[in-house]
Amino acid sequence: MSRLDGKRILVGVTGGIAAYKSAELVRLLGKQGAEVRVVMTAAAGEFITPMTLQALSGYPVRQSLFDQAHEAAMGHIELARWADLILIAPASADFMARLAQGMADDLLTTLCLARTVPLAIAPAMNQAMWANPATQANLATLQSRGIDCWGPDAGSQACGEVGPGRMLEPEAQTELVIARLSAGPLQGVKVLLTAGPTREPIDPVRYVGNRSSGKMGFSLARALREAGADVSLVSGPVSLATPAGVKRTDVETALQMRQAVLEQVVECDIFVACAAVADYRPREVAGQKIKKQQEQLEIRLERNPDILAEVAALESPPFTVGFAAETDKPIEYAQQKRKNKRVNMVAANLVGAEQGGFERDENALTVVWEGGQQALPMSDKGELAKRLVELIVEQYEQNN
Ligand code: CTP
Repeated sequence: MSRLDGKRILVGVTGGIAAYKSAELVRLLGKQGAEVRVVMTAAAGEFITPMTLQALSGYPVRQSLFDQAHEAAMGHIELARWADLILIAPASADFMARLAQGMADDLLTTLCLARTVPLAIAPAMNQAMWANPATQANLATLQSRGIDCWGPDAGSQACGEVGPGRMLEPEAQTELVIARLSAGPLQGVKVLLTAGPTREPIDPVRYVGNRSSGKMGFSLARALREAGADVSLVSGPVSLATPAGVKRTDVETALQMRQAVLEQVVECDIFVACAAVADYRPREVAGQKIKKQQEQLEIRLERNPDILAEVAALESPPFTVGFAAETDKPIEYAQQKRKNKRVNMVAANLVGAEQGGFERDENALTVVWEGGQQALPMSDKGELAKRLVELIVEQYEQNN
Protein backbone atom coordinates (compact mmCIF):
# COMPACT_ATOMS: atom_id res chain seq x y z
CA MET A 1 0.00 0.00 0.00
CA SER A 2 1.27 3.46 -0.84
CA ARG A 3 1.73 5.67 2.16
CA LEU A 4 -0.63 8.43 1.03
CA ASP A 5 -3.47 6.28 -0.29
CA GLY A 6 -6.76 8.12 -0.05
CA LYS A 7 -5.13 11.39 1.05
CA ARG A 8 -5.97 14.65 -0.67
CA ILE A 9 -3.24 17.22 -0.97
CA LEU A 10 -3.65 20.71 -2.31
CA VAL A 11 -0.31 21.99 -3.58
CA GLY A 12 -0.03 25.77 -3.88
CA VAL A 13 2.71 27.05 -6.15
CA THR A 14 3.92 30.64 -5.82
CA GLY A 15 6.36 32.67 -7.88
CA GLY A 16 9.98 31.61 -7.53
CA ILE A 17 12.59 29.72 -9.46
CA ALA A 18 12.09 26.70 -7.15
CA ALA A 19 8.65 26.30 -8.77
CA TYR A 20 10.24 23.96 -11.31
CA LYS A 21 10.70 21.49 -8.42
CA SER A 22 6.98 21.62 -7.65
CA ALA A 23 6.46 19.38 -10.67
CA GLU A 24 8.57 16.68 -9.02
CA LEU A 25 6.75 17.21 -5.71
CA VAL A 26 3.37 16.70 -7.38
CA ARG A 27 4.70 13.57 -9.09
CA LEU A 28 6.09 12.10 -5.85
CA LEU A 29 2.90 12.79 -3.88
CA GLY A 30 0.88 11.12 -6.63
CA LYS A 31 3.26 8.16 -6.63
CA GLN A 32 2.55 7.68 -2.93
CA GLY A 33 -1.17 7.37 -3.73
CA ALA A 34 -2.30 10.92 -2.93
CA GLU A 35 -4.88 12.77 -4.97
CA VAL A 36 -3.24 16.09 -5.78
CA ARG A 37 -4.83 19.35 -6.94
CA VAL A 38 -2.68 22.32 -7.83
CA VAL A 39 -3.36 26.02 -7.39
CA MET A 40 -0.89 28.53 -8.83
CA THR A 41 -0.48 32.23 -8.18
CA ALA A 42 -0.13 34.56 -11.16
CA ALA A 43 3.62 34.92 -10.47
CA ALA A 44 4.09 31.13 -10.44
CA GLY A 45 2.99 31.12 -14.08
CA GLU A 46 6.19 33.03 -14.92
CA PHE A 47 8.23 30.01 -13.81
CA ILE A 48 6.27 26.88 -14.68
CA THR A 49 3.33 26.19 -16.97
CA PRO A 50 -0.05 25.00 -15.69
CA MET A 51 0.08 22.34 -18.39
CA THR A 52 3.04 20.60 -16.70
CA LEU A 53 1.31 20.51 -13.34
CA GLN A 54 -1.98 19.46 -14.88
CA ALA A 55 -0.31 16.55 -16.67
CA LEU A 56 1.38 15.39 -13.44
CA SER A 57 -1.61 15.80 -11.13
CA GLY A 58 -4.20 14.64 -13.62
CA TYR A 59 -6.45 17.63 -12.86
CA PRO A 60 -6.78 21.11 -14.31
CA VAL A 61 -4.71 23.66 -12.43
CA ARG A 62 -6.60 26.56 -10.85
CA GLN A 63 -5.23 30.05 -11.03
CA SER A 64 -8.05 32.50 -10.57
CA LEU A 65 -10.66 33.23 -7.97
CA PHE A 66 -13.05 34.36 -10.66
CA ASP A 67 -13.02 31.38 -13.02
CA GLN A 68 -16.69 30.56 -13.53
CA ALA A 69 -16.22 27.08 -14.95
CA HIS A 70 -13.95 26.00 -12.11
CA GLU A 71 -16.11 27.62 -9.46
CA ALA A 72 -19.12 25.79 -10.82
CA ALA A 73 -17.30 22.43 -10.58
CA MET A 74 -15.90 23.02 -7.08
CA GLY A 75 -16.20 26.36 -5.31
CA HIS A 76 -13.07 27.77 -3.68
CA ILE A 77 -14.37 27.26 -0.14
CA GLU A 78 -15.20 23.68 -1.02
CA LEU A 79 -11.71 23.23 -2.44
CA ALA A 80 -10.16 24.55 0.79
CA ARG A 81 -12.16 21.97 2.75
CA TRP A 82 -11.59 19.16 0.24
CA ALA A 83 -7.92 18.83 1.14
CA ASP A 84 -6.44 16.90 4.07
CA LEU A 85 -3.43 19.19 3.86
CA ILE A 86 -2.45 22.33 1.97
CA LEU A 87 1.22 22.61 1.10
CA ILE A 88 2.60 25.81 -0.41
CA ALA A 89 5.78 24.89 -2.29
CA PRO A 90 7.58 27.05 -3.01
CA ALA A 91 6.33 29.76 -0.67
CA SER A 92 7.82 33.08 -1.76
CA ALA A 93 8.62 35.95 0.64
CA ASP A 94 5.69 37.87 -0.84
CA PHE A 95 3.31 34.97 -0.31
CA MET A 96 4.44 34.56 3.32
CA ALA A 97 3.81 38.27 3.88
CA ARG A 98 0.33 38.09 2.38
CA LEU A 99 -0.46 34.97 4.38
CA ALA A 100 0.74 36.60 7.61
CA GLN A 101 -1.48 39.59 6.88
CA GLY A 102 -4.50 37.34 6.32
CA MET A 103 -5.01 38.72 2.83
CA ALA A 104 -7.42 37.15 0.35
CA ASP A 105 -6.34 38.93 -2.80
CA ASP A 106 -6.01 35.88 -5.01
CA LEU A 107 -7.26 32.27 -5.08
CA LEU A 108 -4.39 30.77 -3.07
CA THR A 109 -4.47 33.28 -0.19
CA THR A 110 -8.26 32.98 -0.11
CA LEU A 111 -8.03 29.19 0.15
CA CYS A 112 -5.51 29.50 2.97
CA LEU A 113 -7.75 31.92 4.83
CA ALA A 114 -10.85 29.74 4.39
CA ARG A 115 -9.16 26.47 5.28
CA THR A 116 -9.74 24.43 8.40
CA VAL A 117 -7.13 21.79 7.51
CA PRO A 118 -3.38 21.76 8.30
CA LEU A 119 -1.25 24.15 6.27
CA ALA A 120 2.48 23.83 5.59
CA ILE A 121 4.81 26.13 3.71
CA ALA A 122 8.13 25.28 2.07
CA PRO A 123 9.80 28.69 1.71
CA ALA A 124 12.21 29.44 -1.12
CA MET A 125 13.89 32.77 -1.66
CA ASN A 126 17.19 34.60 -1.75
CA GLN A 127 19.09 34.16 1.53
CA ALA A 128 19.01 37.90 2.36
CA MET A 129 15.26 37.98 1.80
CA TRP A 130 14.91 35.00 4.14
CA ALA A 131 17.10 36.61 6.80
CA ASN A 132 15.29 39.93 6.58
CA PRO A 133 13.55 40.73 9.88
CA ALA A 134 10.31 41.35 7.98
CA THR A 135 10.30 37.78 6.63
CA GLN A 136 11.36 36.38 10.00
CA ALA A 137 8.54 38.29 11.71
CA ASN A 138 6.07 36.92 9.16
CA LEU A 139 7.43 33.43 9.78
CA ALA A 140 6.98 33.82 13.55
CA THR A 141 3.40 34.99 13.00
CA LEU A 142 2.62 32.03 10.75
CA GLN A 143 4.19 29.54 13.16
CA SER A 144 2.33 31.02 16.11
CA ARG A 145 -0.86 30.26 14.18
CA GLY A 146 0.10 26.59 13.88
CA ILE A 147 1.31 26.73 10.27
CA ASP A 148 4.19 24.30 9.69
CA CYS A 149 7.32 25.66 8.05
CA TRP A 150 9.38 23.03 6.23
CA GLY A 151 12.88 24.20 5.45
CA PRO A 152 14.41 26.12 3.87
CA ASP A 153 17.66 24.31 3.21
CA ALA A 154 20.96 26.12 3.12
CA GLY A 155 23.32 25.96 0.16
CA SER A 156 24.13 27.59 -3.16
CA GLN A 157 21.20 29.42 -4.67
CA ALA A 158 19.97 30.01 -8.20
CA CYS A 159 20.93 33.70 -7.81
CA GLY A 160 24.55 32.70 -7.15
CA GLU A 161 24.51 33.46 -3.42
CA VAL A 162 25.02 30.96 -0.63
CA GLY A 163 22.90 30.60 2.51
CA PRO A 164 19.53 29.45 3.82
CA GLY A 165 16.66 29.93 1.36
CA ARG A 166 16.62 26.88 -0.90
CA MET A 167 13.37 25.02 -1.02
CA LEU A 168 13.45 21.70 0.81
CA GLU A 169 13.87 18.90 -1.73
CA PRO A 170 10.60 17.30 -2.97
CA GLU A 171 11.60 13.91 -1.47
CA ALA A 172 12.00 15.47 1.99
CA GLN A 173 8.70 17.33 1.62
CA THR A 174 6.95 14.10 0.66
CA GLU A 175 8.28 12.43 3.82
CA LEU A 176 7.02 15.35 5.90
CA VAL A 177 3.59 15.11 4.29
CA ILE A 178 3.50 11.39 5.15
CA ALA A 179 4.56 12.09 8.76
CA ARG A 180 2.06 14.95 9.07
CA LEU A 181 -0.86 12.88 7.82
CA SER A 182 -0.16 9.59 9.54
CA ALA A 183 -1.80 9.33 12.94
CA GLY A 184 1.05 9.26 15.45
CA PRO A 185 0.75 7.41 18.76
CA LEU A 186 0.10 10.69 20.61
CA GLN A 187 -2.65 11.93 18.29
CA GLY A 188 -5.11 13.95 20.39
CA VAL A 189 -2.83 13.91 23.46
CA LYS A 190 -1.98 17.29 25.00
CA VAL A 191 1.58 17.72 26.23
CA LEU A 192 2.92 20.62 28.28
CA LEU A 193 6.68 20.94 28.35
CA THR A 194 9.17 23.24 30.06
CA ALA A 195 12.59 23.92 28.51
CA GLY A 196 15.69 26.06 28.79
CA PRO A 197 17.15 27.87 31.80
CA THR A 198 15.50 30.43 34.05
CA ARG A 199 17.03 33.80 34.92
CA GLU A 200 16.63 35.11 38.43
CA PRO A 201 17.23 38.88 38.57
CA ILE A 202 19.71 40.44 41.01
CA ASP A 203 19.22 43.99 39.76
CA PRO A 204 17.95 45.47 36.47
CA VAL A 205 21.02 44.27 34.54
CA ARG A 206 22.23 41.12 36.32
CA TYR A 207 20.80 37.71 36.98
CA VAL A 208 21.58 34.28 38.38
CA GLY A 209 21.36 31.82 35.51
CA ASN A 210 22.65 28.48 34.27
CA ARG A 211 24.13 26.95 31.15
CA SER A 212 21.08 25.13 29.81
CA SER A 213 20.76 25.76 26.05
CA GLY A 214 17.20 24.43 25.76
CA LYS A 215 18.28 22.05 22.96
CA MET A 216 17.03 18.90 24.67
CA GLY A 217 13.66 20.46 25.50
CA PHE A 218 13.18 21.85 22.00
CA SER A 219 14.18 18.50 20.43
CA LEU A 220 11.63 16.83 22.69
CA ALA A 221 8.94 19.34 21.71
CA ARG A 222 9.63 18.53 18.05
CA ALA A 223 9.62 14.74 18.63
CA LEU A 224 6.39 14.93 20.63
CA ARG A 225 4.79 16.99 17.86
CA GLU A 226 5.95 14.49 15.27
CA ALA A 227 4.35 11.74 17.36
CA GLY A 228 1.06 13.58 16.86
CA ALA A 229 0.77 15.38 20.22
CA ASP A 230 -0.62 18.85 20.74
CA VAL A 231 2.47 20.47 22.24
CA SER A 232 2.64 23.57 24.39
CA LEU A 233 6.14 24.70 25.29
CA VAL A 234 7.00 27.04 28.17
CA SER A 235 10.51 28.22 27.53
CA GLY A 236 13.11 30.17 29.45
CA PRO A 237 15.45 32.49 27.49
CA VAL A 238 17.06 30.53 24.65
CA SER A 239 18.07 31.33 21.11
CA LEU A 240 16.25 28.51 19.36
CA ALA A 241 13.50 28.52 16.74
CA THR A 242 10.11 27.16 17.77
CA PRO A 243 9.55 23.69 16.29
CA ALA A 244 6.81 23.62 13.64
CA GLY A 245 3.30 23.35 15.02
CA VAL A 246 4.34 23.89 18.64
CA LYS A 247 2.69 26.58 20.78
CA ARG A 248 5.28 28.56 22.75
CA THR A 249 5.12 30.78 25.83
CA ASP A 250 8.30 32.67 26.73
CA VAL A 251 9.17 33.30 30.36
CA GLU A 252 12.23 34.48 32.23
CA THR A 253 12.08 33.52 35.91
CA ALA A 254 11.12 30.34 37.76
CA LEU A 255 8.06 32.09 39.21
CA GLN A 256 6.90 33.10 35.74
CA MET A 257 7.49 29.55 34.50
CA ARG A 258 5.44 28.17 37.40
CA GLN A 259 2.63 30.62 36.64
CA ALA A 260 2.57 29.71 32.93
CA VAL A 261 2.61 25.98 33.75
CA LEU A 262 -0.19 26.23 36.31
CA GLU A 263 -2.32 28.17 33.84
CA GLN A 264 -1.99 25.44 31.21
CA VAL A 265 -1.58 22.24 33.19
CA VAL A 266 -5.27 21.50 33.77
CA GLU A 267 -5.73 20.83 30.09
CA CYS A 268 -2.72 18.58 29.63
CA ASP A 269 -2.36 14.79 29.63
CA ILE A 270 1.42 14.67 29.90
CA PHE A 271 3.75 17.14 31.64
CA VAL A 272 7.45 17.02 30.77
CA ALA A 273 9.75 19.15 32.95
CA CYS A 274 12.88 19.58 30.90
CA ALA A 275 13.76 23.10 32.06
CA ALA A 276 16.79 23.72 34.23
CA VAL A 277 14.81 25.76 36.74
CA ALA A 278 16.95 27.78 39.14
CA ASP A 279 16.54 26.21 42.57
CA TYR A 280 17.09 29.60 44.23
CA ARG A 281 16.39 33.25 43.44
CA PRO A 282 17.80 36.42 45.02
CA ARG A 283 15.67 37.34 47.98
CA GLU A 284 15.74 41.02 47.15
CA VAL A 285 15.95 42.42 43.65
CA ALA A 286 17.68 45.82 43.65
CA GLY A 287 15.66 48.51 41.92
CA GLN A 288 18.83 50.15 40.60
CA LYS A 289 22.06 48.70 39.28
CA ILE A 290 24.24 47.65 42.25
CA LYS A 291 27.42 49.77 42.40
CA LYS A 292 30.77 48.22 43.25
CA GLN A 293 31.25 49.97 46.57
CA GLN A 294 31.91 47.07 48.91
CA GLU A 295 34.86 44.66 48.82
CA GLN A 296 32.46 41.79 49.27
CA LEU A 297 28.86 41.52 48.28
CA GLU A 298 26.41 39.09 49.74
CA ILE A 299 23.34 38.05 47.84
CA ARG A 300 20.85 36.07 49.88
CA LEU A 301 18.93 33.47 47.94
CA GLU A 302 15.63 31.83 48.66
CA ARG A 303 14.18 28.58 47.36
CA ASN A 304 12.07 28.59 44.26
CA PRO A 305 8.97 26.41 44.19
CA ASP A 306 9.54 23.03 42.53
CA ILE A 307 7.24 23.18 39.49
CA LEU A 308 7.46 19.47 38.69
CA ALA A 309 6.71 18.41 42.29
CA GLU A 310 3.79 20.82 42.40
CA VAL A 311 2.28 19.43 39.19
CA ALA A 312 2.80 15.84 40.39
CA ALA A 313 1.01 16.68 43.65
CA LEU A 314 -2.13 18.01 41.92
CA GLU A 315 -5.37 16.23 42.72
CA SER A 316 -5.55 14.61 39.31
CA PRO A 317 -2.06 15.04 37.92
CA PRO A 318 -1.09 14.44 34.31
CA PHE A 319 1.47 11.75 33.46
CA THR A 320 4.68 13.41 34.63
CA VAL A 321 8.21 13.18 33.28
CA GLY A 322 11.15 14.87 35.01
CA PHE A 323 14.84 15.23 34.37
CA ALA A 324 17.76 14.87 36.72
CA ALA A 325 21.37 15.88 36.34
CA GLU A 326 23.68 13.64 38.33
CA THR A 327 27.44 13.41 38.66
CA ASP A 328 27.27 9.77 39.82
CA LYS A 329 24.91 6.84 40.44
CA PRO A 330 22.27 8.08 37.95
CA ILE A 331 19.88 5.14 38.37
CA GLU A 332 19.87 5.23 42.15
CA TYR A 333 19.47 8.99 42.45
CA ALA A 334 16.95 9.18 39.62
CA GLN A 335 14.77 6.51 41.26
CA GLN A 336 15.01 8.42 44.52
CA LYS A 337 13.98 11.65 42.80
CA ARG A 338 11.10 9.89 41.06
CA LYS A 339 9.73 8.57 44.34
CA ASN A 340 10.29 11.80 46.30
CA LYS A 341 8.53 13.95 43.73
CA ARG A 342 6.00 11.23 42.89
CA VAL A 343 6.55 11.54 39.16
CA ASN A 344 6.00 8.73 36.64
CA MET A 345 9.34 8.88 34.84
CA VAL A 346 12.73 10.49 35.36
CA ALA A 347 15.38 10.83 32.68
CA ALA A 348 18.80 11.22 34.24
CA ASN A 349 21.89 12.44 32.52
CA LEU A 350 25.39 12.25 33.87
CA VAL A 351 27.00 15.66 34.03
CA GLY A 352 30.59 16.55 34.65
CA ALA A 353 33.81 17.25 32.78
CA GLU A 354 33.77 14.01 30.78
CA GLN A 355 30.05 13.72 30.23
CA GLY A 356 27.45 15.23 27.97
CA GLY A 357 24.69 17.53 29.13
CA PHE A 358 24.51 21.28 28.89
CA GLU A 359 25.45 23.23 25.76
CA ARG A 360 26.16 20.11 23.73
CA ASP A 361 24.42 18.63 20.71
CA GLU A 362 24.76 15.11 22.08
CA ASN A 363 23.61 13.49 25.26
CA ALA A 364 22.96 10.11 26.89
CA LEU A 365 20.13 9.34 29.30
CA THR A 366 19.14 6.73 31.82
CA VAL A 367 15.37 6.64 32.07
CA VAL A 368 13.66 5.16 35.12
CA TRP A 369 10.03 4.42 36.00
CA GLU A 370 8.34 2.29 38.58
CA GLY A 371 9.82 -1.17 38.23
CA GLY A 372 11.89 -0.41 35.16
CA GLN A 373 14.74 1.41 33.57
CA GLN A 374 16.39 1.87 30.19
CA ALA A 375 19.67 3.37 29.10
CA LEU A 376 19.59 5.52 25.95
CA PRO A 377 23.15 5.69 24.61
CA MET A 378 25.01 8.85 23.62
CA SER A 379 23.46 10.30 20.48
CA ASP A 380 22.36 13.49 18.82
CA LYS A 381 19.71 15.24 20.96
CA GLY A 382 17.14 14.99 18.13
CA GLU A 383 17.60 11.21 17.94
CA LEU A 384 17.66 10.89 21.72
CA ALA A 385 14.42 12.86 21.98
CA LYS A 386 12.72 10.40 19.58
CA ARG A 387 13.85 7.43 21.70
CA LEU A 388 12.68 9.12 24.88
CA VAL A 389 9.28 9.88 23.30
CA GLU A 390 8.94 6.15 22.46
CA LEU A 391 9.46 5.32 26.15
CA ILE A 392 7.04 8.05 27.24
CA VAL A 393 4.40 6.66 24.85
CA GLU A 394 4.90 3.12 26.25
CA GLN A 395 4.62 4.18 29.87
CA TYR A 396 1.82 6.68 29.25
CA GLU A 397 -0.24 3.98 27.52
CA GLN A 398 0.34 1.55 30.42
CA ASN A 399 -0.81 4.18 32.90
CA ASN A 400 -4.03 4.93 31.06
N1 CTP B 1 12.30 21.25 38.46
C1 CTP B 1 11.19 22.06 38.52
N2 CTP B 1 11.17 23.18 39.32
C2 CTP B 1 12.23 23.49 40.09
C3 CTP B 1 13.38 22.66 40.05
C4 CTP B 1 13.37 21.56 39.22
O1 CTP B 1 10.22 21.79 37.81
N3 CTP B 1 12.18 24.56 40.84
C5 CTP B 1 12.29 20.08 37.61
C6 CTP B 1 13.25 20.14 36.45
O2 CTP B 1 12.63 20.64 35.29
C7 CTP B 1 13.64 18.68 36.31
C8 CTP B 1 13.64 18.17 37.71
O3 CTP B 1 12.72 19.00 38.41
O4 CTP B 1 12.68 17.93 35.61
C9 CTP B 1 14.99 18.29 38.34
O5 CTP B 1 14.86 18.03 39.67
P1 CTP B 1 15.91 18.52 40.72
O6 CTP B 1 15.55 17.88 42.00
O7 CTP B 1 16.05 20.01 40.68
O8 CTP B 1 17.13 17.87 40.07
P2 CTP B 1 18.55 18.30 40.27
O9 CTP B 1 18.76 19.71 39.81
O10 CTP B 1 19.32 17.22 39.62
O11 CTP B 1 18.48 18.26 41.85
P3 CTP B 1 19.64 18.16 42.94
O12 CTP B 1 20.49 19.33 42.66
O13 CTP B 1 18.86 18.25 44.18
O14 CTP B 1 20.26 16.84 42.68
